[in-house]
Order: sequence, then structure tokens, then C-alpha cells
Amino acid sequence: MKRVLTGLQPTGVITLGNYIGAIQQMKEYQEQYDSYMFVADLHSITIAQDPEELRKNIRSLVAIYIACGIDPKKNTMYVQSDIEYVPCVSWLLECNSYYGELSRMTQFKDKSAKHANFTSGLLTYPILMTADIIGADANFVPVGVDQKQHVELARDIAIRFNNKYGETFVIPEPLIKKAGTKIMDLQNPTVKMSKSAENKKGVILILDDVNVTRKKIMSATTDSEMSIKFDPENKPGISNLINIYSSLTGLNISDIEKEFEGCNYGTFKSKVADVVVKELEGIQERYNEVKDSQYLTEILDSGAAKMREAFKKKYEIMKDKIGLVR
Ligand code: TYM
Repeated sequence: MKRVLTGLQPTGVITLGNYIGAIQQMKEYQEQYDSYMFVADLHSITIAQDPEELRKNIRSLVAIYIACGIDPKKNTMYVQSDIEYVPCVSWLLECNSYYGELSRMTQFKDKSAKHANFTSGLLTYPILMTADIIGADANFVPVGVDQKQHVELARDIAIRFNNKYGETFVIPEPLIKKAGTKIMDLQNPTVKMSKSAENKKGVILILDDVNVTRKKIMSATTDSEMSIKFDPENKPGISNLINIYSSLTGLNISDIEKEFEGCNYGTFKSKVADVVVKELEGIQERYNEVKDSQYLTEILDSGAAKMREAFKKKYEIMKDKIGLVR
């Protein structure tokens, strides 16, 4: 059976963008693939985190996964830092990748420009992600479009290692859903919706009060026309709302355009808000049920035991091929 794997960083409550870009897809794939869903906590410390906050966020993210419909019976769920062999695999891969390819990554260029004194982890971050993916023999990696370049790098590194040392890794592929590959900020719809945005009015967090969410959608930036047409270049605000609506209802874009032909923006926004609020209410209800449960610990213990074995095995194979034997 083909294997599907993805992870999210535990840097605060996840956004509607994370949900649509990664989690929603996993919900579909868990029905047909051998599925792995983890917490990318080692990735989160490439940028300084408050230890107390991080502790809370790691566990909370697992509760969010379950609340969002990721089924622990159909997924292996684990916390990346529990698997001590992940950084070992990552190091061996680092020594088979190049500064040039890492420094060309769009996310590195953006983030390093924002931080005067960034860590070297910010540069090597995609290799750690490569280790997550190819160390677990994942065939498919559902991500938002902002992570596509990193999955392609993982692919290149896997091919390079296989060519140099013989068949070792499965070659992974990114899976990107058409609608919602990139959910944009509601206030500034030319940039992606991100937890780190300064103005929180444009960002929907999964655990936000639903009344606040409704207000954020109602005051989303649109344009001076009055047509509900999907045109990301000229109408980024409306196109983003169409994308959100399409992702959550499963309707395709042309059907949405037809449904709302002649409607004003207020009416459309309130329909989008209804759909988002309904989705979030269900998630929040389940979140409150599972967040303090002992069940989370059991799931993570069993995920850690399984993945430690898998990564250890892969690490030993790599060491042997590279010649790290005594
Ligand atoms: P992270 O935590 O930044 O984002 C998690 C997932 O959410 C997607 N995403 C979005 N999708 C649509 N619209 C948006 N506005 C939006 N914002 C974020 C991201 O594309 C991602 O799929 N490096 C990864 C975590 C990671 C990982 C991995 C993922 C570590 N190892 C191995 C897959 C496989 C990250 O920082 O995601």
C-alpha cells in the first residue's frame, strides 16, 4: 500500500490555511493509504520559541489533528522530536546536499530577509523535512503550495542518494489540491494566510471564537467591482473567498460563480462565513473533548515506538552504504 505523510509546525493554533492546505487532504487520503501524521516540532525551533508555549502547543496540535478528523486508528501519529534518529538521518542527508540548493529555497530567502540574525537551522530546515519524508519511505506528501519546493528538494536528494549509493529511498511526490493550495490573508490577499502575520484580522485560527471569525470574513478585503468571479490576479480577495468556499463545500469554482451570479459581496461573504463557522464549530467541540485525554499520550507513545524502529533501520542502512561502520 502506498504511504502518505505530512506534518505541521506546533507554532500556535493552526490557521484555516493549514487546515485546508494539509489536514483536509489527509482526511481523504487516510481512507486509501498507509497514513502518517506528525508534529514537526524540530522545525519550529528554527525560529526562537518560548519553551512553555511550545510544550503546550505540541500536545494541543495532536488534539487539533484528531478534532479535525485525523483518525488515530488510520494514522500513525507521532512527535518528530521523539524520534531521535530523524536528526541522524538528516545529518547524513545534509552531507549529500548543497549550500547552493538550500540558499535558493524561496522560504529561506523570505525568512532570512526578515531576521537579521537567523539560525543555521533555517537554512538546513528543508533537509530535516527531507529526512521526515524519505526516512519514512513516504510516496506522497500532501502540502500547501508554499511547501512544494521543499518536497521537490526531498525528491532530488532521494534520487541523488540512490544514484550514489544504490536503491535506498522511495522517491516522494507532493500532493497539492487544486482549490485551496494557498489560502491568502483576508486583509492582504496577496500574501498567504500565516500564523505569524502582524495583523491578526486577516488570519482565521481554527480555535478562534466563531463570532470573531465571522467578523473577520465579513470585513475581508475585496474590490470595487460587484462580481463574484475567480480571478486571483485582478480580484485576489474575492478569489480567496471562493477558494475557501470551494475547499469546504467541495463545490467547484464555476458552480460557485453560477450560484452567486448577481449577488452582492455582503451576501456572498455571509455564506462563506456560515460554511467556515459550521466547520470550526465541529472542530472546536471535538477539540474540547479530546484535549486533556490520556488517549493522546497513548497514541503518541505507540507512534513513537513504531517510528523509532523505522528510522533506526533506515539510519543503519544509510550508515552501512556510506561506510560508517567499524
Ligand atoms: P507549516 O507548519 O508551515 O504548514 C503546515 C501545512 O499547511 C500548509 N499551509 C497552507 N496551505 C494553504 N494555504 C496557506 N495559507 C497555508 N499555510 C500553510 C503548508 O503548505 C503545510 O502543508 N515544513 C513544514 C512542516 C513539515 C513537513 C514535513 C510537511 C516538516 N516536515 C514533512 C510535510 C512533510 C511546515 O513548516 O509546514
